[in-house]
Amino acid sequence: MSIKPEYLKLFVNATEKAAYGASKFIGKNDKIAADQAAVDNMRREFNNIDMDGKIVIGEGEMDEAPMLYIGEKVGTKKGQKLDIAVDPLEGTNFVAKNLPNSFSVLAASEENNLFFAPDTYMEKIAIGSDLPRNLVDLDNSVEKNVSLLAEAKKTAPNKLTVCVLDRPRHSKIITSLKKLNVKLKLITDGDVSGVMYIVDQNSPVDMYMGTGGGPEGVLAAAALSCYGAQIQTRLVLDAEESVRAKKMGITDLKKKYNIDDMIKGDVMFCATAITNGDLAKGIDVQNDFYETSTIAMHKHGNINTLFKNKHKK
Ligand code: FBP
Repeated sequence: MSIKPEYLKLFVNATEKAAYGASKFIGKNDKIAADQAAVDNMRREFNNIDMDGKIVIGEGEMDEAPMLYIGEKVGTKKGQKLDIAVDPLEGTNFVAKNLPNSFSVLAASEENNLFFAPDTYMEKIAIGSDLPRNLVDLDNSVEKNVSLLAEAKKTAPNKLTVCVLDRPRHSKIITSLKKLNVKLKLITDGDVSGVMYIVDQNSPVDMYMGTGGGPEGVLAAAALSCYGAQIQTRLVLDAEESVRAKKMGITDLKKKYNIDDMIKGDVMFCATAITNGDLAKGIDVQNDFYETSTIAMHKHGNINTLFKNKHKK
């Protein structure tokens, strides 16, 4: 079974409208207002779509998020049964501070085919397409993963670039990579794009490593799944989060998830740039219209394209 192809344009429209909502707050140093505008617009567009949709990755759980919460039903209930993961504003700091690489992002699958991850941290390691399955592993040392990747790519460690979120929690990883003379790409936020660099022709990144948001991990996995690339993840849970994860049906809290555990079957992925970025041009607002650039993918439709659209304000 596949997702009906006509949904792709409707989902692109949802991230475009969410991105436009957030764009009104670029450089306003107000990430909450920017996020709220993106959420409001995305939700409104979803509810015009003929689908029987359920948010499986959202703005939080019902009691902490008024909209697009995990479990919320969206759509007119008339069409296909779909699970949807959303991050209406990925890179809240980027919009607030007028910095590159913010996006409005979603992924959709058929019912029960997306990993139902709680809103917690997640360890991630990701590599590109055309490499042996399960080549790298979260339980390997940094040295071992780098050496396995260099060998598979028939190159030397000092020719590899590894992307890592610049956080104190990653100081050991960063020190090890420096010792190996690997080129670092240290990002300040936005690890959906951080992971996507490994499949982007214009961003020479070979591997992504480190701990970031769980929801962002599932969204990035959806994009990688359309490329045949690989990601392995593991939830990072404190005591309270472990209880929540169990409530969500996760029994093995230490499980390592490979891409096929996270994304089953067909998937669609859309990311509309808000501020200008490495992967797409941000919203361009003119007097009476605005232009959007959206990375849009449909795995079974073999679609991977950059949609540019003009909208009346
Ligand atoms: P927001 O857009 O929700 O602010 O998330 C940005 C982000 O950088 C994610 O891309 C990443 O997964 C996460 O935050 C990392 O979390 P932290 O800032 O706590 O290290």
